Amino acid sequence: MAIQRTLCIIKPDAVEKKKQGAILQHLLDAGFDILAMRQLTLSRRMAEGFYAVHKERPFFGELVEFMTRGPVVVVALEGEDAVKRYREVIGATDPAEAAPGTVRQLYGASKGENAVHGSDSEDNGRQEIAYFFEAHQLL
Ligand code: CMP
Repeated sequence: MAIQRTLCIIKPDAVEKKKQGAILQHLLDAGFDILAMRQLTLSRRMAEGFYAVHKERPFFGELVEFMTRGPVVVVALEGEDAVKRYREVIGATDPAEAAPGTVRQLYGASKGENAVHGSDSEDNGRQEIAYFFEAHQLL
């Protein structure tokens, strides 16, 4: 298996609950390395750009509203088979369907307020990391 990079966003619901530290520790304990990390509040334009692929979905407005309501922590992760493994560690999109012990089962509240974002492929992981970090910040 190859070393890959993937993007984690700790969403406003988890930051509001002060669970960002617990989630980062969960990811470190699962074996991921943190390449780069920053906290910021997304502008509407940044959230709409990040989720542009979902712009025709009925929940798009709600998603942008939620993602801009407070700070997020954006984390570039690296590790063996990181894209697939990270998705296993965070669990299903809907916390009610996420396996026990996964980040979304532990810290998520609903399909929308589900604590973390995860890249769904290696290509998207690369693009999503580049959305938030300059190449020189990832060395
Ligand atoms: P994320 O991994 O950030 O990528 C797209 C997001 O859309 C997803 O997590 C969910 O939080 C959100 N989403 C998916 N389905 C719904 C829904 N039915 N209602 C609200 N938000 C949703």
